[in-house]
Amino acid sequence: MIRSAIIGTGSYLPEKVLTNFDLEKMVDTSDEWIRQRTGIVERRIAAEDEASSDMGLEAAKRALEDAGVNPLELEAIIVATITPDTLFPSTACVIQGKLGARNAGAFDISAACCGFIYGLAIADGFIRSGMMRTVMVIAAETMSRVTDWTDRTTCVLLGDAAGAAVLRATTEDRGILSSFLGAAGEYADPFLLGMPAGGSRMPATPETVEKRLHFLKMRGREVFKLGVKMMPEAGLKALELAGMTPKDIDLFIPHQANIRIIDAVGERLGIPKEKIYVNIHKYGNTSAATVAVALDEVRRNGIAKEGDNILMVSFGSGMTYAGTVIRL
Ligand code: ACO
Repeated sequence: MIRSAIIGTGSYLPEKVLTNFDLEKMVDTSDEWIRQRTGIVERRIAAEDEASSDMGLEAAKRALEDAGVNPLELEAIIVATITPDTLFPSTACVIQGKLGARNAGAFDISAACCGFIYGLAIADGFIRSGMMRTVMVIAAETMSRVTDWTDRTTCVLLGDAAGAAVLRATTEDRGILSSFLGAAGEYADPFLLGMPAGGSRMPATPETVEKRLHFLKMRGREVFKLGVKMMPEAGLKALELAGMTPKDIDLFIPHQANIRIIDAVGERLGIPKEKIYVNIHKYGNTSAATVAVALDEVRRNGIAKEGDNILMVSFGSGMTYAGTVIRL
């Protein structure tokens, strides 16, 4: 049986740190409120000349180096992003060109915070079907560019980051063991969670700019309630597809949207706190990149080791929800 092993990971965080105290000077908020309600202490912000492809490229280079893979060996580059450099050409093509990965097909996917898990599932499909042997999945998000820095209900939550993984066909019993992809399209409302303007429904006009419709909008309380319902469901589905229960999991990597959501999801799945990986205090919500960055961190700092079963789950705009079980 062919599986997709994760043979290398990488991540990139921009240098600039924006703390809760910095935000206190920008909007009517406080370090205490942000910590208590979200668990976030600081987040990273891309430099003025940095876009999603620049961060994705760095993460990709690090993942290739970790895997010992030459860019020419890649057959596909999948980039998960809701903050592409441009709507077209794709961010994946920009990265493919800069990497010199001339043998790889390249495309972006739009699944919001679930993008990395969706991307892993697509890559796994290519590999298990025998169509490809080596595929890279990148999640790159410059959320700061779609953040309304005058809106305290959203600007305290978001950050910029990129993560990447190289997958390769293996006959060993490891790699991606299951993928569950969910969507609840009845919630596909850009004012519930999304960006209303700039697409074919509402192209850019002076009015859309004036009404600040090119920024992320969110009704936080409703999204919170959906998150604590959808993430455990995605987790249970992914476990079921892998023939596992929460007890079989060595490490749980949930999407980092809010520490209270993470705690609630852990509780519902019956996964003890010491098995839940949290880095939201350092980076905030970086959309598709949260899970990708976390996966790289746990591999590099030895929190996860060979043979460990890792459950990763996410939810996001769409609403999408997704889960995957991998064995390192
Ligand atoms: N600082 C101080 N006060 C604030 C702030 C702030 N930054 N933001 C909101 N408040 C106020 C509100 O105005 C409200 O005041 P009121 O009671 O006088 O009306 C009060 O705090 C409580 O507001 P709630 O919205 O009820 O606060 P809640 O506990 O729900 O926390 C939060 C808000 C953090 C946004 C939470 O709802 C949440 O995490 N939601 C989910 C977010 C999420 O997961 N998004 C995921 C996707 S993002 C993406 O896709 C990239």
